[in-house]
Amino acid sequence: MLEFPQNGDERGHLVIVEGMQDIPFNIARIFYIYGSEGGVVRGQHANRRSQFVLINVAGSCKVKVKDGRGNEAVFVLNRPHTGIYLPPMLWKDMYDFSPDSVLLCLASEHYDAAEYIRDYEEYIKAVNEG
Ligand code: TYD
Repeated sequence: MLEFPQNGDERGHLVIVEGMQDIPFNIARIFYIYGSEGGVVRGQHANRRSQFVLINVAGSCKVKVKDGRGNEAVFVLNRPHTGIYLPPMLWKDMYDFSPDSVLLCLASEHYDAAEYIRDYEEYIKAVNEG
């Protein structure tokens, strides 16, 4: 988990995320997810190259990560100044979105569908092949 400084004053908060300073990569792409209902599971893939930082800038969701070697962990994203760093080759599921959830995703790479592994069996095979 990453904690970003909240530059707060009486006008509100301002959170800064700079590539290679607050997160361990330069940001090539951002996207954000909102309007996902509570029962929806998103993600369900791994990335061969992309690193991500996920921040719920509003609302909350959960992120389950697996390493393909039997380890898994669930993280709750529910603060606009807290992010999760996801290195390549983790399987990730995002779920339990609150109605007001806005999940900001910072990525180290431009979009390339070919570096997404969306089949879990293929993912396990890729992990085992190193
Ligand atoms: P998808 O990867 O299924 O989203 P999530 O993992 O959050 O559930 O992406 C949904 C669609 O958007 C899919 O058709 C691919 C496309 N897409 C892009 O074109 N560029 C992007 O940067 C992303 C993240 C998705």
